[in-house]
Amino acid sequence: MAVERTLSIIKPDAVAKNVIGDIISRFEKAGLCVIAARMAHLSQSEAEQFYAVHRERPFFGELVGFMTSGPVLVQVLEGEDAIARNREIMGATNPKEAAPGTIRADFAETIDANAVHGSDAPETAAQEIGFFFSDEQICPRG
Ligand code: TYD
Repeated sequence: MAVERTLSIIKPDAVAKNVIGDIISRFEKAGLCVIAARMAHLSQSEAEQFYAVHRERPFFGELVGFMTSGPVLVQVLEGEDAIARNREIMGATNPKEAAPGTIRADFAETIDANAVHGSDAPETAAQEIGFFFSDEQICPRG
């Protein structure tokens, strides 16, 4: 397994619930390290760009509305197999279908407000990390 980086977003619903620390603790217990992090309140244009792949989907407008509804925490996570490992502990997109003990099962109720985002492949991880962070803002562990 290779050491990878992935982009994580703790979404407005989870930030509003004040469970940032609980969620980061899940990442750390799964062997992932936070190597960059900042709070952001996304603009309409940033959210539209970030989720451009979903532009034609029926839920796009609601997704952008939700992602701009409050602050988020964007982070780069690093670790062995980080992309798949993060998605495993996030759980299924729909919290109602997420396995017990996953972040979405424990901290979210609906598919449109599902607590976390995680990159789904190496190419999207690199693109999404570059969307939010410059190289100087990323601090890998020694
Ligand atoms: P997607 O990339 O399919 O899921 P994931 O976040 O698990 O990679 O979808 C992106 C986001 O779009 C998802 O987290 C929540 C929202 N969404 C909806 O609101 N309704 C839907 O039916 C789907 C599929 C996604």
